[in-house]
Amino acid sequence: MSDDPTGTTAATDADGGLQDAIATLDRLRADALAAIADAADTAALNEARVRFTGKRSELTGVQKRMKDLTPDGRKQLGQALNGFRAAFDEAHAVREEELATAALAARLEDERLDLTLPPRRLPPGRPNLLTQVEHEIIDVFIGMGYQVAEGPEAEAGAYNFDLLNIEPDHPARQEMDTIYVAGFDDVVLRTHTSPVQARVMTTQAPPIAVVVPGRTYRADTVDATHSPVFSQVEGLVVGEDITMADLRGTLLSFSRAMFGADRDIRLRPSFFPFTEPSAEVDVSFDEPGGNLGWLEILGAGMVDPNVLSMCGIDPDRYRGFAFGIGIERVAMLRHGVKDIRDFFDADARFLARF
Ligand code: DAH
Repeated sequence: MSDDPTGTTAATDADGGLQDAIATLDRLRADALAAIADAADTAALNEARVRFTGKRSELTGVQKRMKDLTPDGRKQLGQALNGFRAAFDEAHAVREEELATAALAARLEDERLDLTLPPRRLPPGRPNLLTQVEHEIIDVFIGMGYQVAEGPEAEAGAYNFDLLNIEPDHPARQEMDTIYVAGFDDVVLRTHTSPVQARVMTTQAPPIAVVVPGRTYRADTVDATHSPVFSQVEGLVVGEDITMADLRGTLLSFSRAMFGADRDIRLRPSFFPFTEPSAEVDVSFDEPGGNLGWLEILGAGMVDPNVLSMCGIDPDRYRGFAFGIGIERVAMLRHGVKDIRDFFDADARFLARF
């Protein structure tokens, strides 16, 4: 009879079914506590709650027997029911807490970061070839005692042209395809690094020995050897006994440092408004057939006395030499780069070669 879930037949017992109901409760309590202890997760725990305390549970059947009991029997069964409920709720709460703790521990373990694992290796970056060559050029001159100077890329016409002996109607202003800065009267994107010569001479007293790296701009159409943005290293030396032999010796040292100890240079007469005399400088190389070849690498000359005096330096006391090196050109010659656009295209295959 005790396994009659509706409890309807129990009322026929002598005590109205009280002992049977209490025995049933004892069994249910043991079963319920076991089920709770066995619940492996929250779902199993919920299932146990429904099975042992839900509307259709055996417990409901036991509760229904109340009506068949004496007042004293009701009191006893009531206490037994309360005891069951308290034991059930307590065990349920404890197990719920255990499961939650275990779930948190599992999640923490799952999300654990092993900080001792070696990181994924990223290939180290390195400076662009142009930057590397610029640094090498600068290093050669620092080794000869030069200082590094800099000037603005948006430059006053006075420095870019006038103080360099390039008069307003001088063809060089057109030849250089100057880019003017809109909204300003006389501001250009510097067409060369030479204006920094004037900036240094108007602010420093001789002796002067500076190199000036920087970007320069011209409204050139892009092709294999032209870019509207390019870079130069300017050089300027001013002192009391400076001669063209000093210029030649300096440029020979530079060329051998950059291109090889067996190189020679030659100076071809040329013209620049700010130097007199002026020269274009070629460096020697061995042609494939064993012949000697020459490649132009820079422009140079003795600083025009007129430039010295416009910049506040006494041309009767001081002389100077100057040179302007195209960084792209040097990099192309030294590394066999055929197209100037390769420097700016950011093609990883090109960049990875240097
Ligand atoms: N500024 C010249 C250019 O961009 C290069 C140059 C030539 C610089 C002769 C010099 C120099 O300092 O003496 O074409």
